[in-house]
Amino acid sequence: MDFYKIYQNKKILVTGATGFKGAWLCLWLHILGAKVFAIGYSPNKNKNLFYSLNLHKKIKINILDIRDKKKLTLYVYKIKPQFIFHLAAQPLILEGYKEPYKTYEINTLGTLNILEISRKSKFVRSLICVTSDKCYESNSSTTGFKETDRLGGVDPYSGSKAAAEIIIKTYIESFQKKQKILGIASARAGNVMGGGDKSQNRLIPDIVNSLYKKNKIFIRNPNFNRPWQHVIDPLYGYLILGANLYKDPKKYSGAWNFGTEKNTVTSVLTIVRYAIKNWGWGEVTIKKQKQFYEQTNLQLNIEKTKKILKWKPKYKIKDSVKLTIEWYKKVLNKTTTAEEITKKQILDYMK
Ligand SMILES: NC(=O)c1ccc[n+]([C@@H]2O[C@H](COP(=O)([O-])OP(=O)(O)OC[C@H]3O[C@@H](n4cnc5c(N)ncnc54)[C@H](O)[C@@H]3O)[C@@H](O)[C@H]2O)c1
Repeated sequence: MDFYKIYQNKKILVTGATGFKGAWLCLWLHILGAKVFAIGYSPNKNKNLFYSLNLHKKIKINILDIRDKKKLTLYVYKIKPQFIFHLAAQPLILEGYKEPYKTYEINTLGTLNILEISRKSKFVRSLICVTSDKCYESNSSTTGFKETDRLGGVDPYSGSKAAAEIIIKTYIESFQKKQKILGIASARAGNVMGGGDKSQNRLIPDIVNSLYKKNKIFIRNPNFNRPWQHVIDPLYGYLILGANLYKDPKKYSGAWNFGTEKNTVTSVLTIVRYAIKNWGWGEVTIKKQKQFYEQTNLQLNIEKTKKILKWKPKYKIKDSVKLTIEWYKKVLNKTTTAEEITKKQILDYMK
């Protein structure tokens, strides 16, 4: 698929641009020659990847709360995007326990606002709402959730993403099928890793923080299995999905899993060991404290996405950890900049 041909000069709105995935996506779209517009919220210039990638010099960023429908509508109508990649969210399970109301508000009402504005507009053609692999009803299955499996969630974050999925589905069923101008899809990916993630209580940022400070790495749940993947893999999937929705909104509307291949879920402890190997040294200590419920196993079934979108994950887990640790090592040692290495990793992937 020729991404340059599809995305060049297109007006694209990315919500959650100041976040981890959003910043990578903005840079990728910028490389492709798209006219990118970004929405972020509560940015911290010292922390945000968006600023380390110098995206503020290339892309228009609007600091805006997606719960504010009036402001959001005014902004979307001002720029009139053809594509929207909606990534803005409260994306952390632990934060969801601390701030359940806010988590629900941002993840459901925020998504509803985006859907409603897109539905009424005559210009949005391709809308991708990024939800999560946590949207499925937990059953500790090791066989992999299919897109048609039951939605659910025990914790507020998972519940909010399941609720967002239901809202998205109703918009597809009630409006997309009738008007056919706008393609609406939800993208469900697993735990991603890659350079520049600064979120607390996420495995890779915690590992890198400890390694950099020469501290022991403490892990909570060594045997939790997750479909870890490099951030580039699902983003590549979102770009394929966006392009297909643009070409044929009806055919590609719906839910899509962007996970890893079968039997590739990897334990937290294994990831830590790979990270230590790539860093050169490090120690790990297990500090069991299962305060909150989290699923023990989580695997997505990606057969539909592979078959119809012709997407499949490119990086094996070892490659993903290697690329991620390489990113941090080089940026922290100042042998390259965040912008240079992120761009290089995207271009290498596209080759
Ligand atoms: N990182 C992962 O492992 C992972 C896994 C599954 C799903 N996801 C989903 O992918 C998306 C991106 O995740 P991420 O890891 O980049 O998260 P992140 O925390 O790095 O970024 C979240 C972004 O959302 C923005 N945001 C938060 N509240 C907002 C509000 N009220 N109004 C406007 N913007 C707001 C933040 O400013 C930030 O730009 C989220 O929808 C998340 O649920 C992430």
